[in-house]
Amino acid sequence: MAAGIDDIAIYIPRLFMDAGDFAEARGLDPQKLVKGLGVSKMAIVDSNQDPACLAANACLKIMQKNKLSPEEIGRLYVATESSFDESKAMNSYVIGMLEQVYGAGSFQHCGGIECKFACVSGSYALYDNTNWIRAGESEDKYALVVVSDIAKYDLGSSGEMTQGGGAVAMLLNDSPRLLEFDPKVTSTSIKNEYDFYRPFGKETPIVHGQYSNLLYLIQVKNALNDYKRKALKTGLIDMKEGQSMLDHIDYFNMHLPYSNMGKKALAYLVRHELRNTPKWKEVIAEVGMEEPVPKDPRGTIESIISDSEFMTKDSEFTKRFAKTNTYQEIYENKVASSLIASKSIGNLYTASLYLGFRSCLEYEFQKGVSLEGKRFGFASYGSGSSAMVFSGVIKPEHLQIVKEMNLETEIGERQKLSLSDYEELHENKLEPNQSLLHAKKEFVLEHVENISSEKRGERRYAFIE
Ligand code: CAA
Repeated sequence: MAAGIDDIAIYIPRLFMDAGDFAEARGLDPQKLVKGLGVSKMAIVDSNQDPACLAANACLKIMQKNKLSPEEIGRLYVATESSFDESKAMNSYVIGMLEQVYGAGSFQHCGGIECKFACVSGSYALYDNTNWIRAGESEDKYALVVVSDIAKYDLGSSGEMTQGGGAVAMLLNDSPRLLEFDPKVTSTSIKNEYDFYRPFGKETPIVHGQYSNLLYLIQVKNALNDYKRKALKTGLIDMKEGQSMLDHIDYFNMHLPYSNMGKKALAYLVRHELRNTPKWKEVIAEVGMEEPVPKDPRGTIESIISDSEFMTKDSEFTKRFAKTNTYQEIYENKVASSLIASKSIGNLYTASLYLGFRSCLEYEFQKGVSLEGKRFGFASYGSGSSAMVFSGVIKPEHLQIVKEMNLETEIGERQKLSLSDYEELHENKLEPNQSLLHAKKEFVLEHVENISSEKRGERRYAFIE
């Protein structure tokens, strides 16, 4: 049975920190953010927003847009790494909010859990719900998968320049208008790692930045290798002599902790894909140097990172490779449009990959490219660590949705934060009733109980008309 994404909606907080102001405050060259990382604005949550109300706002948008009643939703999954309760799932809060609009008990029939595996959990949630539909369990109801996160790092840390926040809601069914997932090719890799993690009670993660970058690339490559094996085995792809996956995947959507990570990941995967093809000789001539090899090619990630001679040469090779016509053409045609939204919004953890998908649809459509029948490859990565690679094909009906997409209108009017407001919000110095913006037609957090021990942690939300 077919299954895939029928529609997609985003909710992005309307406060933002400007990269130039941020760089000045931290004594950084703004070009490091804008050119080096691809960050020009970071969406920041107000004092009356948490990841549950971002998720509920995205769900409400998609339901209202499609005139859906709760009766038509069979499952509501939330994937997040910004969880605030060790037991009560974030979906229960989301359902509580939605029932303020649709009526008490209106979602009672609906199932779902909160999923966790850093930024990759949204992809696992999509996969599990796709299989619920494929198994014929859905009784013609939709699965609603919402990915929601607040990417928040310590003040003054290297991760602080890659923050953001927001939610993406995706409606899944058996006759999707946007994208139908390819069956039997979804592939994963997994390994116990400490590249990025957030111990109980800590609001911000512990991050080994460069290690996490490299681990992301390696894990995605491993999952891609398995994807390729399955795609050949199932006959999804018929690889002719001298071809690579690049000949069979029209667009690559990558997890985007910052926009340029998409470029970095593409360069790594393209090198991996072309290395054993006849084209590689031409590429090496274009690059003008041989591809460096680590002293211990079968060594650990730590041994590769500590091989400073290799790391320097590899960085030089990557920079030259990224300037070749071969890479530039692949980059422009397969990835560039997916990176645009991230530049002005920032990291959304679980939701980053799907904001990238949404970005690709909108900006390729604006370029006049016909997307019908195009295969999208998705490279999802979650620290800790696991990667998932899967794909799907764009349906003819996508035009009904894509022609209406407008990122700026969907976000609404945004307000630039001063450094002092940003730091107050970051350090949780403002109460929910001291929010900087007036909410309109959205859910907000009103109160978190922290006095009564009987009710500690209870959250109260309201829908503001
Ligand atoms: N002008 C132009 N470019 C500049 C520049 C300047 N003045 N200064 C630096 N740059 C370039 C650098 O050359 C570099 O480019 P390349 O990547 O192409 O080499 C880029 O800007 C970044 O510079 P650094 O590598 O020196 O940056 P950093 O080490 O200070 O921080 C980071 C980068 C490690 C990603 C850090 O922001 C961080 O820790 N972020 C959080 C962790 C993260 O995002 N990890 C990603 C993988 S894990 C994951 O994906 C899960 C998740 O969502 C977190």
